[in-house]
Amino acid sequence: MKLSVVGLGYVGLIQAAGMAKLGYEVIGTDIDKEKVDNINNRVPPIYEKGLKELLDEIVPRKLTATQDLKKAIKESEVTFICVGTPSKRQGEMSLHQLENVLKQISTVLDKYHVFVIKSTVVPGTCENVVIKTMENAGKRYKVDFSVVMNPEFLREGEAIEDFFAPDRVVLGSSDEKALSIVKMLYSEFKCPFVESGFKEAEMIKYASNAFLATKISFINEIGNISKIYGIDANVVAKGMGLDKRINPHFLRSGIGFGGSCFPKDVSALVYKATELGYNPRLMRSVLDVNRDQPLKLIELLDRSAGPIKGKKIGLLGLTFKSGTDDIRESPALLTIKELLMEEAKLCIYDPKAMDKVQKIFPHLTYEKTGQDVIKNSEVVLILTEWPQFRELDFGNKLVIDGKNLFYDGKRPKNYMGICW
Ligand code: UDX
Repeated sequence: MKLSVVGLGYVGLIQAAGMAKLGYEVIGTDIDKEKVDNINNRVPPIYEKGLKELLDEIVPRKLTATQDLKKAIKESEVTFICVGTPSKRQGEMSLHQLENVLKQISTVLDKYHVFVIKSTVVPGTCENVVIKTMENAGKRYKVDFSVVMNPEFLREGEAIEDFFAPDRVVLGSSDEKALSIVKMLYSEFKCPFVESGFKEAEMIKYASNAFLATKISFINEIGNISKIYGIDANVVAKGMGLDKRINPHFLRSGIGFGGSCFPKDVSALVYKATELGYNPRLMRSVLDVNRDQPLKLIELLDRSAGPIKGKKIGLLGLTFKSGTDDIRESPALLTIKELLMEEAKLCIYDPKAMDKVQKIFPHLTYEKTGQDVIKNSEVVLILTEWPQFRELDFGNKLVIDGKNLFYDGKRPKNYMGICW
């Protein structure tokens, strides 16, 4: 069976490469010519551990990329739709990319085709948008096409590992035939399969991300209270995490969560719940705590090394987490904005994201190494937990850590943490 993947971003490219590695013939499609050319030349368009080796193995033997969406659809029987659903101004999910792709697809469909939705979409989207758009184009559900909701749970930086070793595969549909076709594609996976209706599968994705975000804002709130007490929140988290009902994961307090998923997904669920007439107080608070969390680092800086105006401040890390080149919703960007408003003099280093940030803040000092940041600043802020920062020589410089880089106690001489 030949597969196609629409949208070759952080999710789609891993889905395409993963299915190709499983032995399927995959044609990936994207509107971005540079991305398509890079993939066909085995050049990873994103930084993801193991991606280069994977592309070397499967391109062009099993995976090819094209800008021609219609060709991709015509040459395949099952299509994974992995286009973005970014936030609109009020937090509402934007379906523009998805609707645009569906309209194009409906013009070329001439045989039964299964569409697997991996884009994160609010409950009701598969039935009210995906199926409706195809039916409005004259296609018959379960006859000319079918739909399965198959949310992804990939963590950036661990995406390939997560693809091949998922905790579960979630498949939502009202068409048993389509469910069995997609289940067969994942037949090598030994994890539990959760089969459900469309809405349950759509909600599992949002609820999972909203819960993880809640866990982070919770430990950040505990961390903020602990900091006032002079309590080390990391020790508190260790004591909590040994309770198997809590578990040790996602209990790392710090400058808050970023990335393209948690902020977007929690905001979209808050928006949708409100639209339905429910007031999601808890999830609004999760976003409020997270929005203010980077400011805690700046307050600590001001208290311990103020005034900030004119001070040479070094920033180590720009990405929203280590192991990725992604700066989307990174707390480091808000930190830069706040420090610039306080008229600090900034020098910056990140192993993977310097070029992206330079496009946003062209007039800052971008150092070649982390050691140069330390050398050229009075105070150093740790904004991303890149492991190589642990080996730097901080001398007597004040280090304010927003990401618990020195979790094992190997702390610099003049050190303090945001919540510990
Ligand atoms: C997340 C979900 O984990 C994944 O299942 C979903 O498919 C996409 O969104 P990702 O955003 O790539 O994955 O990274 P993740 O490792 O979950 O971290 C998200 C953010 O939370 C990062 O900014 C990270 O630094 C922060 N975080 C994570 C904490 O602040 N504390 C923690 O304990 C864990």
